[in-house]
Amino acid sequence: MYNKRTIIPGLAIFVVFVTFPLWFNAFSTASPTPKPELPPGGEKQCVAPASEMRASHMQLLNEWRDEVLRDGDRQLVTVDGKQYGRGLQLACMQCHTSKEKFCDSCHEYASVKPYCWDCHLSPEEEALKKETL
Ligand code: HEC
Ligand code: HEC
Ligand code: HEC
Repeated sequence: MYNKRTIIPGLAIFVVFVTFPLWFNAFSTASPTPKPELPPGGEKQCVAPASEMRASHMQLLNEWRDEVLRDGDRQLVTVDGKQYGRGLQLACMQCHTSKEKFCDSCHEYASVKPYCWDCHLSPEEEALKKETL
C-alpha cells in the first residue's frame, strides 16, 4: 500500500537533492573569477606576453627593482615603439591605469596584498595628490 504521508515529502527531498548543484551555484557566495580590465588607452601589448605576465609579473618587478636600485641600471623598455622606465608608475600603471580595476581585481581573488603601495603611489592617489596641491 502507498503511504501519501511519506511519498510527498520523499519526492520533495529527492527533487531538492537532484537539483542541488543548480541552486547551490546560484546562491553560493563564491566570487566569480576576476576579469582584469584591459588598458583603457587601447594598448595591445604588455612588456612580455600575457601568459608570461600572468605567471611571473612578481618576479619581473623584483628584477626591475634590483636592477634599477642595486645596479643603477635605468635602461628603458620598448613596447610597440613607446619607451617606458622600469617601474610600477613608470611602466605598469602607464597602461594599466587603474590599480583597482586591474591589479586589485586579481589580488583580491587570490588573497595577495602586495605591500608595494605602502610607498609607491597608485594612479588614483597620484591624481588626488595633484588635485589637493
Ligand atoms: C605598454 C602598455 C603596458 C605596460 C607598460 C604594461 N602592460 Fe601589462 N598588459 C598590457 C596589455 C595590452 C595586456 C593584455 C595583453 C594580451 O591580452 O595579450 C597586458 C596584460 C597583463 C597581464 C595579464 C592580464 C590577464 O588578463 O591575464 C598582467 C598580469 C600584466 N599585464 C601586468 C603588468 C605589470 C605588472 C606591468 C609592469 C611591470 C605591466 N603589465 C606593464 C599593457 C601593458
Ligand atoms: C591576472 C591576475 C593578476 C593581475 C592582473 C595582477 N596580478 Fe599581481 N599577482 C597575481 C597573483 C595570483 C599573485 C600571487 C602569486 C603567487 O603568490 O605566486 C600576484 C602577486 C603579485 C606580487 C607579489 C606579492 C607578494 O606578496 O608576493 C606583486 C608585487 C604583484 N602581484 C604586482 C602586481 C601589479 C603591480 C599589478 C598591476 C599592474 C598586478 N600585480 C596585476 C595575479 C595578478
Ligand atoms: C619602503 C618603501 C617601498 C616599498 C614598500 C616598495 N618600494 Fe619600490 N621603491 C622605493 C623607492 C624609495 C624607490 C626608488 C625610487 C627612485 O629612486 O626612483 C623604489 C623603486 C622601485 C623600482 C625601480 C623603478 C622606480 O619606480 O623607481 C621598482 C621596479 C620598484 N620599486 C618596485 C617595487 C615593488 C614591485 C614593490 C612591492 C613588491 C615595491 N617596490 C615596494 C620604495 C619602496
